[in-house]
Amino acid sequence: MSGALSRLDGAFSVPYEKLAGFPAARVEGHAGRLDCGDANGVPVVVFRGRFHLYEGRTPAEVAAPVRLAKALGASVFIQASAAGGIGKGFLPGSLALVRDHINFTGSDPLASVPMEKRRPPFLDMSEAYAPALRARAKEAARSVKIPLKEGVLAVTHGPTYETPAEVRRLGRAGAHAVCMSGLCESVFARALGLPTLFFLVITNRAAGLSRKKLAHEDVLRRAEAAQGRLSRLLEALLPLFQ
Ligand code: HPA
Repeated sequence: MSGALSRLDGAFSVPYEKLAGFPAARVEGHAGRLDCGDANGVPVVVFRGRFHLYEGRTPAEVAAPVRLAKALGASVFIQASAAGGIGKGFLPGSLALVRDHINFTGSDPLASVPMEKRRPPFLDMSEAYAPALRARAKEAARSVKIPLKEGVLAVTHGPTYETPAEVRRLGRAGAHAVCMSGLCESVFARALGLPTLFFLVITNRAAGLSRKKLAHEDVLRRAEAAQGRLSRLLEALLPLFQ
């Protein structure tokens, strides 16, 4: 999803290698640089490439962009990921907004933070994706006539895609979509008091819901094809934060 907002005014880039605490991106098709500039008159930093638990990163490494965004004074952290569709209507090519998530990674991202550094020690997650922000995202989508479903995201550890039996279980648990990214970012953003929005590009029906086997190349191709629409949506959304 790292090609969204490709035209920034007055832009400059910093490769991740030059940012202290930033590991270089490792996944093919994922870039590794920070772009700073204005999008539709709004100052943004765009992280092109993210870190994943399935690369063997720690939750704190995965959340490095969130900490940097907070340190730079960001007022909102917006993320986007490819995802498999589970719910009715979560079809390949469509865009969706995360209303809530279910953590299926097997561990809690904040468990890696020493207890004495956690304030509060147990984090409330009841409105991890603030209703007021989601309302703005939906308003922006309407204004550019881009259909935007809202649903619950299941996040798995990866790197295996789910089995059909796991997808049936996720569906019964209330998930409309599944991906392997974004959980650590959302949890750390919440812990840091940085409001967050999470968009999904549904790149495939999750395993067992279509006859097609899952392939990273197909996911990349679908994600790429949706980039223009995601950019238009973001360009309509950003001015609503000013
Ligand atoms: N499962 C998990 N992650 C994904 C999928 C999927 O089906 N599609 C894109 N990312």
